[in-house]
Amino acid sequence: MESDSGHEQLFQWHEEFSVAVDEMDDHHKKLFNMSEKVIRAVDLADEKVAERALDFLIEYSQSHFLDEEDLMLRHGYPELHQHKRIHKRLTESIIKLQKELEANSYKAGIDLGLFLKEWILNHVLTEDQKYAHFLGHSNSAK
Ligand SMILES: [Fe+2]
Ligand SMILES: [Fe+2]
Repeated sequence: MESDSGHEQLFQWHEEFSVAVDEMDDHHKKLFNMSEKVIRAVDLADEKVAERALDFLIEYSQSHFLDEEDLMLRHGYPELHQHKRIHKRLTESIIKLQKELEANSYKAGIDLGLFLKEWILNHVLTEDQKYAHFLGHSNSAK
């Protein structure tokens, strides 16, 4: 699928990403859009826009992780502790990326598309699906 600018859209939403919790699906869609924006800005070598887009992405992801952990806590998700550790690692890795980009004036010497796909898309598709599965099978899900 091509976006308006003719670039290939890396972060397309598919039903398979759904965790069957509307609020979390909305967060994930937003995170995908934000990731796309970071990649576009770095592609265009627009340092200011890239910097802001990455700031937004990091900030939004942190609040999403907290909301998600809160949801898991409320529903007694047994793998909460492990999921929290993974969120912490994700935060550390994107802050490391941010520092690398800053050091290189936002010129991508890194495959940013690949990094962000691993970073958010795979997380939603694997780890987040685990709690979706749990909530779907527990009576307390709402
Ligand atoms: Fe998530
Ligand atoms: Fe998560």
